[in-house]
Amino acid sequence: MIDVKGLKKSFGDNHVLRGVDLKVEKGEIVTMIGPSGAGKTTLLRSLNWLDAPDAGTIRIDDAEIDAARAGKKAVKRLRSKTAMVFQHYNLFNNKTALENVTESLIMVKKLSKETAKARGKELLDRVGLSDKYNAYPSFLSGGQQQRVGIARALAVDPKVILFDEPTSALDPEWVNEVLTVMTEIAREGMTMVVVSHEMRFVRDVSTRVLLLDDGQILEDGTPEQVFKNPQHERAQQFLKLAHLE
Ligand SMILES: Nc1ncnc2c1ncn2[C@@H]1O[C@H](COP(=O)(O)OP(=O)(O)OP(=O)(O)O)[C@@H](O)[C@H]1O
Ligand SMILES: [Mg+2]
Repeated sequence: MIDVKGLKKSFGDNHVLRGVDLKVEKGEIVTMIGPSGAGKTTLLRSLNWLDAPDAGTIRIDDAEIDAARAGKKAVKRLRSKTAMVFQHYNLFNNKTALENVTESLIMVKKLSKETAKARGKELLDRVGLSDKYNAYPSFLSGGQQQRVGIARALAVDPKVILFDEPTSALDPEWVNEVLTVMTEIAREGMTMVVVSHEMRFVRDVSTRVLLLDDGQILEDGTPEQVFKNPQHERAQQFLKLAHLE
């Protein structure tokens, strides 16, 4: 589903991705962990070309792009394969929950207003918000807003959903409901790449863990392999300090 080769990205002389290779199969739930500044967000954003890499190729589904000659059309095609869920929900505050979800259905998918509305309601039902269609974001809890964000991501029928620390800005009481929705979506077979340090999710839901450090993938294995038997000393140190082992 995803095939990344030789991905490099620098900000000035800060080499943030140092040649990342990564393959993800359909239905895999890959979580990325690693110290702050390791390049997790940059890698995730590169997959969606929100950060344009300096070198390397990315294929997602049948969309392929080479950093050396990335045209607008290729970027658009690549972007149509993924949806992102950010730490801060990035909802439109002047739109209701339903309007936040139908926006892309109308603008991108070109559905009629009526069809978009029906589909939008289905998606909000799926994330447990059937009583909040007409609520504005400021009247929703953090957990509810993040679930609207997930419904919005599902709306574009992505091949892959990219999550960047989707629960880290939430009060602890809202974390569970968001993890539950993510787990349900994962069980339905969606391919997901998730930056998260939520151990319950990493250990119980993800099928594979990547440990990034200094712009490289240091460890790549099942949660059990990475936590119990990390190969690199830096990974061992990180796991100890983060109390993730
Ligand atoms: N737009 C930007 N301009 C300049 N430097 C950036 C930019 N985005 C990221 N960086 C730098 O790239 C490096 C990697 O950042 P990135 O956000 O990918 O790390 P991360 O692993 O997601 O960290 P965290 O766990 O803190 O979110 C950092 O040194 C950061 O300062
Ligand atoms: Mg980050």
